[in-house]
Amino acid sequence: MNNFEFKNPTKIIFGKDTIEKLENEIPKDAKVLLLYGGGSIKKNGIYDQVKTALASLEVVEFGGIPANPEYAVLLEALKVIKEENITYLLAVGGGSVIDGTKFLSAAALYEGETPWDILTKNIRTEKGMPFGTVLTLPATGSEMNSGSVITRAETKEKLAMGGPGLFPEFSILDPQVIASIPERQLANGLTDAFTHVLEQYMTYPIGALLQDRFAESILQTLIEVAPKVLKDPTDYKAASDFMWSCTMALNGLIQKGVPTDWAVHAMGHELTALFGIDHARTLAVIAPSHYKFNFEAKKEKLAQYGQRVWNITEGSTDDKAYAAIEKTVAFFHQLGIDTKLSDYTKDYEGTAEEISKRFTNRGWTGLGEHQSLSPDKVEKIVKMAY
Ligand code: NZQ
Ligand code: ZN
Repeated sequence: MNNFEFKNPTKIIFGKDTIEKLENEIPKDAKVLLLYGGGSIKKNGIYDQVKTALASLEVVEFGGIPANPEYAVLLEALKVIKEENITYLLAVGGGSVIDGTKFLSAAALYEGETPWDILTKNIRTEKGMPFGTVLTLPATGSEMNSGSVITRAETKEKLAMGGPGLFPEFSILDPQVIASIPERQLANGLTDAFTHVLEQYMTYPIGALLQDRFAESILQTLIEVAPKVLKDPTDYKAASDFMWSCTMALNGLIQKGVPTDWAVHAMGHELTALFGIDHARTLAVIAPSHYKFNFEAKKEKLAQYGQRVWNITEGSTDDKAYAAIEKTVAFFHQLGIDTKLSDYTKDYEGTAEEISKRFTNRGWTGLGEHQSLSPDKVEKIVKMAY
């Protein structure tokens, strides 16, 4: 196992009717900016629950953060933070609202001229404005990690940021929120969390037995609950396992002491930036090609995953590894997720070259667990995903 340090300061408040506990978590003298998305919380009752819980606090609201949180919209929210002397942020939403709030947490205390620099210059946020979250969509793990991904439509960019100052102080996870999530977003959440585990697992064996089994157990749980969640999102038992699996998939725990990849996300983010494809779906497009292209380097772990997660017991390591990729594709299809770029756009010619060029320009010349995935290899993988 590699050396590691692990600190995750986010307090999780999990369970039925936990939104009412909000008021105990925010300082009484705080001036709160309540941030939300396109309005789903007003239809499903979450907004009312939050407002009731915040009744004794001073609250200003900012709604309209779109999926793939947009920089231009967030700058409007930043203006409100400054004009209203806001001291605490509360995100009520999925990954987009939470990520947008993380950007604002960083930008509110940022002393530079242009907050976009935080993303392009990789500025780590050591201290941000304090914030908490009420999670409405299990998927990204953003509720218990310190990363954020922000989109800028003007330049068709989608870039990541983070730092130890960007962990939420608390996150409320009430699995009942799942009842109102549309099927498309449920499938996205399952696929995103599943791929988060793969990114931190599908590398090479390092003998970290416990991390491997943490990862495998999250994958097995997602596979087991996926049909139940899709069939009946009001199934509280399944919703609970789904929600906690998504959080555990990306709260830092399973990546400690092991090599990680994250190239699927790097390529996937470009597909969202270029075509607006849902984040999770871009991962399902890239992952199979990525694992086929890097088969030799990853086959030991692919075979272990095949054996332990999909019960593939027959054949050689190569056979098991190949069958494991096929099982993964079948799983995405079972969720209703297409796995080829051409399923999402007819305009895909030239995409691989464009992504490869972008990576070269950004100096991303060696992605993956061996820092050996060069832009020319990225180009080949994306082409395989057409
Ligand atoms: O905007 P509203 O009206 O609220 O509707 C949202 C949105 O349209 C809707 N929704 C959320 N909760 C709902 C609901 N509808 C009904 N009932 C509910 N309870 O779902 C739609 C999608 O929401 P969004 O927040 O965009 O989804 P998700 O949680 O999948 O977040 C995706 C974003 O997170 C980033 C992605 O790149 C993308 O921008 N990621 C963040 C990560 C992180 N911070 O660690 C890691 C991920 O890999 C990912 O990159
Ligand atoms: Zn993701």
